[in-house]
Amino acid sequence: MPKIKNVKAKTSNVVVVGAQWGDEGKGKLIDFLSQKVDITARYQGGNNAGHTVVVGEKEYVFHLLPSAILHKSKICVIGNGVVVDPKALLGEIDDLRKKGVDVTPAQLKVSGLCHIVMPYHRVLDGLRESVRKNKIGTTGRGIGPCYSDKVARCGIRMIDLLNPDLLRSKLEDNLTEKNEIFSKVFKQKDFHFESLYAEYLNYGKLIGPYVCDTALFLNRAIDNKKSVLFEGAQGTFLDIDFGTYPFVTSSSTISGGVCPGSGVAPTKIDKILAAVKAYTTRVGEGPFPTEFSDSLEDEIRAKGKEFGATTGRPRRCGWFDSVLVNYSIMVNGISELAIMKLDVLDNIKEIKICTAYEYKGKRFTDFPMDFEVLNNAKPVYETIAGWSAPTRGVTEFKKLPVNARKYIERLEKLLKVSIRYVSTGSKRSETIIRY
Ligand code: IMO
Ligand code: MG
Repeated sequence: MPKIKNVKAKTSNVVVVGAQWGDEGKGKLIDFLSQKVDITARYQGGNNAGHTVVVGEKEYVFHLLPSAILHKSKICVIGNGVVVDPKALLGEIDDLRKKGVDVTPAQLKVSGLCHIVMPYHRVLDGLRESVRKNKIGTTGRGIGPCYSDKVARCGIRMIDLLNPDLLRSKLEDNLTEKNEIFSKVFKQKDFHFESLYAEYLNYGKLIGPYVCDTALFLNRAIDNKKSVLFEGAQGTFLDIDFGTYPFVTSSSTISGGVCPGSGVAPTKIDKILAAVKAYTTRVGEGPFPTEFSDSLEDEIRAKGKEFGATTGRPRRCGWFDSVLVNYSIMVNGISELAIMKLDVLDNIKEIKICTAYEYKGKRFTDFPMDFEVLNNAKPVYETIAGWSAPTRGVTEFKKLPVNARKYIERLEKLLKVSIRYVSTGSKRSETIIRY
């Protein structure tokens, strides 16, 4: 009998996504969950991500490196769907080395198919933002222009940095076009070929030892019953298709993005878990129906330290939106949730949950596709009494104040998926595992 392919292995391959607008606490969750798996893999986004991990008194922020990198015995993968700024990646590896964490090629695998974020992408990102009437509020890391080049089939990939002749011809082609745009459209100075070529050839030499066919690596590992945790970056409503376009990022942030971004087939994915904040935040522009309009924003921002981990920008804050998260659950196929930052709501007297939107007398319980509705919708709230007691560091569900338990249980009922984890602080230990 021929060998049967695509049979689900017994081990569990789990995807973690953000179900809101990013910054849901994916870093903490990944660091925590990766202790139990063999491999952690990023599959989209780039150094626009900012994933924070706190160990003891030390705080680490990862932008390109998977958040499991602190676990020495675990393997981390940067899959083909990630756009890599080599300077940023080397900088992150170097920063970790200075903190006593060595990242070896045995521990980190980078796909040769990753597209490279070039300096002209970063500059273009900023210039486009500066002339746009409807600003997106990008992170300025060149993510959009890099993904545009990928789709336009003129991108430079990691493997090209290892091939001097190919890099030369691709960079020449790119600069011929880009320099025209910079000088004629934006009246900016040209990029100099020789210095850029030498710089990126050198990055190829430095990153080369980490480069491999990560699709092959991941699939072989899965065949050998190893487990993989896929680390999503950004959040569902920043997805290029399902997000609040054009105020989105340029990749597929939903769970389906794992397959093109890693080369692992959908039949090999066992579970989708999402991180959600106990409230909602968003950085950058775009609609946000449950955004606070009063001093509560300052209070939550201060308590939750809601400042971007990548750009330091203050995050916009608002109530939990179950219309939004329900749509996330659908498009991602989420079966379990982790509620993050519950402790930030500790002393809020009344807590609201958005259960529908109202627009022109019509009630919407499904997330509306139409921006007209989204921009002008009035959220319909139900109010839950706060718990006015500390939850910071609580590790057992039954030890939470009764109203905090009621809040979680109400969310579970509205979302119809189980809330397996509740985070009560930024440290690994400050976590409730319900089952
Ligand atoms: P993590 O992984 C929150 C936002 C930017 C901007 C939009 C487009 O930490 O959750 P881009 O630079 O990607 O072209 O910007 O997306 N954005 C994020 N917001 N968390 C992130 O990542 C984000 N990455 C991008 O603020 O609104
Ligand atoms: Mg972040």
